[in-house]
Amino acid sequence: MAKSTAILAIETSCDETSAALVRCSGALKAPRFKILKNIVSSQIAVHRPFGGVVPNLAKREHLKNLPIVLRQILKTTNNKRQKTTIDCLAVTVGPGLEPALWTGINFAEELSKKLKKPLIGVNHMEGHLYSNWLPVRITKEPKNKETKKQLPKITFPAIALIVSGGHTILLNMKSITKWTKLGETLDDAAGEAFDKVARMLNLPYPGGPEIQKLAVKGNSNTIQFPRPMLNKKNYEFSFSGLKTSVLYYLRDHPIADLADKKQTSRTNQKKVSVVRLRPRQSADAADVAASFQQAVVDVLVKKTIRAAEEYKAKSILLCGGVSANKALRKMLHASCFMLHKKFVVPDFEFNTDNAAMIAAAAYINLLQKKKKPLPMEADGNLNI
Ligand code: KG4
Ligand code: ZN
Repeated sequence: MAKSTAILAIETSCDETSAALVRCSGALKAPRFKILKNIVSSQIAVHRPFGGVVPNLAKREHLKNLPIVLRQILKTTNNKRQKTTIDCLAVTVGPGLEPALWTGINFAEELSKKLKKPLIGVNHMEGHLYSNWLPVRITKEPKNKETKKQLPKITFPAIALIVSGGHTILLNMKSITKWTKLGETLDDAAGEAFDKVARMLNLPYPGGPEIQKLAVKGNSNTIQFPRPMLNKKNYEFSFSGLKTSVLYYLRDHPIADLADKKQTSRTNQKKVSVVRLRPRQSADAADVAASFQQAVVDVLVKKTIRAAEEYKAKSILLCGGVSANKALRKMLHASCFMLHKKFVVPDFEFNTDNAAMIAAAAYINLLQKKKKPLPMEADGNLNI
């Protein structure tokens, strides 16, 4: 293999159309990634009026956006100061929404033929996992305003918590390529619970960032929502009961402000999106958001820490869209600090879906010469 490999990656598993160009080097013990460009074109505004992702709309938007994001990436390869030759292409093949995945796969296959470069299929969850190996910002240089970046040093054994809109998975990693799944969610994923509770509070999609924003104004001790599976001696999760508890709480304690909005939504569909985009929540709604968020964070952190102690982990990795949650990052970081374990979390731009993480995962796969390549077929339920 050449000294470094430039990978052009494409990600279309859900509602972000993303392409990235990443220079990858080093062996499995210390892979190095330099992100030359990472473009994410979000479809949030398109799906927001529907309160969630509509698969066929996602497909239509990916078809429209893929050539646009690719053009921006190709501009980088032709940079006058530094020309980059693409060595290899990568694309997400699952898990995710199959119509959306197929759009990326077909586009990448055509591009691979045109550029005469090999194409690698990537598991989206491996993408999230390996986002922990991407460079992280450490300081902002006051003089030249340049941000310094550093590659995280991950030591094993490690426990990885992957929390996204579709998954909540706990892995015990013996090395960068060897792990066992300790547990996952039995029903709703953590991100899904955030999205559903946000809808109950009349907050727009995606709910995670909205709940976080509202929670800042509330008191997390106001309502004692259940901490599902916390005392079970396993590493499974379940968030559906917690979501139902919030529903019952709101039924028994209606929020006046919210009732007004629901009334508006029944009478005027157009007005709804306006109201949803600018929620004027009461203090109670903020308390509900804060108490719910704390219940999720408590379960995620306590189970992860328990696993880290049981398996004598040296590092704890956090990734997936929900890893953008500041309360979760803060509590897990503090727990790791107390136990002298290294806490690793990607920069905010690499928590939610992006193609840079797909390039990183493709490279780790390339380095494992014996690993069977994934078929170029969308697999909505692909396992990690
Ligand atoms: O990884 P991701 O971008 O897509 C999937 O692979 O599912 O994760 C999206 C999920 C959504 O459910 C979104 O609400 C959640 O991540 N999310 C958050 C935050 N930012 C995104 N959840 C809690 N707090 C956040 N700040
Ligand atoms: Zn994801």
